[in-house]
Amino acid sequence: MGDITVSAPGKVILHGEHAVVYGKVAIAASLNLRTYLRMRRGTDNLISLDLPNIAIKKSWTTDGIKSQVSLPLCDPNKPVGVSGELLTKLKDIAGVDQHESDTKQLAVITFLYLYCALAAHKGTLPAIGLKVVSVQPVSAGLGSSASFSVCLAASLLQLSGIISSPAGDEVWSEAERDLINSWAFFGEKILHGNPSGIDNSVSTYGGAIKFKSGKITPLCRVPKLQILLVNTGVPRSTKVLVARCRERYQKYPDIIEPVLKSIEAISHRCEEVLAELADSPSTDLYETLEDLIDINQHHLGALCVNHPALEEIVRTAAKYGLHAKLTGAGGGGCAFIFIKPDTPLTTLADIKSEFASQKLSCWETSVGSPGVTAHSGDDGHLKQLFS
Ligand code: PMV
Repeated sequence: MGDITVSAPGKVILHGEHAVVYGKVAIAASLNLRTYLRMRRGTDNLISLDLPNIAIKKSWTTDGIKSQVSLPLCDPNKPVGVSGELLTKLKDIAGVDQHESDTKQLAVITFLYLYCALAAHKGTLPAIGLKVVSVQPVSAGLGSSASFSVCLAASLLQLSGIISSPAGDEVWSEAERDLINSWAFFGEKILHGNPSGIDNSVSTYGGAIKFKSGKITPLCRVPKLQILLVNTGVPRSTKVLVARCRERYQKYPDIIEPVLKSIEAISHRCEEVLAELADSPSTDLYETLEDLIDINQHHLGALCVNHPALEEIVRTAAKYGLHAKLTGAGGGGCAFIFIKPDTPLTTLADIKSEFASQKLSCWETSVGSPGVTAHSGDDGHLKQLFS
């Protein structure tokens, strides 16, 4: 068997963060910033994991794992979450504290779980070397952990022959992607406890999706959109921000409920405008998208999830006639600036250099890129990435 190389995109929430927690609609889209995984078959009994973005390099022997985990674990066609007992064993194997909550260490456990569940379904453990490289910022609310889980699930299912091995740069069938997505969700649960499933779904299927109360609907008509993502570099915790918003909701329910309803109306309007833009681009429609961004950014401020660093990005964007809002939990993390097709290149160059002078990282990227994809190992760009 040759190498297996796969990639999966990150995500951006266009509208509906926080409101989605109260059963309102959110719209999210994949990013053209991806995580890449290369799996090599080993000749010795070693399983190695190399995650350079988070400085993790670990290896185990197949015998060591077999002596602690009774295999096969499950039927890979029936995705299932890790049991408490197995989690304890995997933490021992990984040398991770039982109460560990650091995402980097939990990424190792996620790998071990999916490896045991998917690669060992016939009771034998293959020796493999795995390297995962992310071209997207990690821990910035852009779904890098979900794209990691999606890449793991896709490559391990392919290794075991449970899903097909598509020729380079192809995607899997819908049923195969459903299986990848379900396993990736259980990977995400190890990493994040109780995720909604929006991140792994966007990463698996790509494009844009509508999300409401756990129900995911792919948006069929989405135009190519460009955004500039700007990272405040301010660390934030989704859990803390969701709690802050809830506090405000509980204190002023009759004031906050209409704000949440308005955010949902923005998501609906955004969906309609995206569909219209896919059919026929028009200046008016792009301006409506800008209005929606402005209104939602104010609403998110009313929910107490803004941050001075995010506001500064919004102000800088406005100076150049551009429109920005926070994305994800807020309180730090990233904002996105919408780039209309007629935005002059000089404007973009100027704003990027202004952010650079403020020591803020930014990435110009498109939304709605393909979901999980298999690649040919001959691709020069990938060879460079993994060198
Ligand atoms: O964790 P993030 O930054 O990708 O965004 C979370 C989105 C929230 O709506 C704030 C929380 C949630 O569970 O949907």
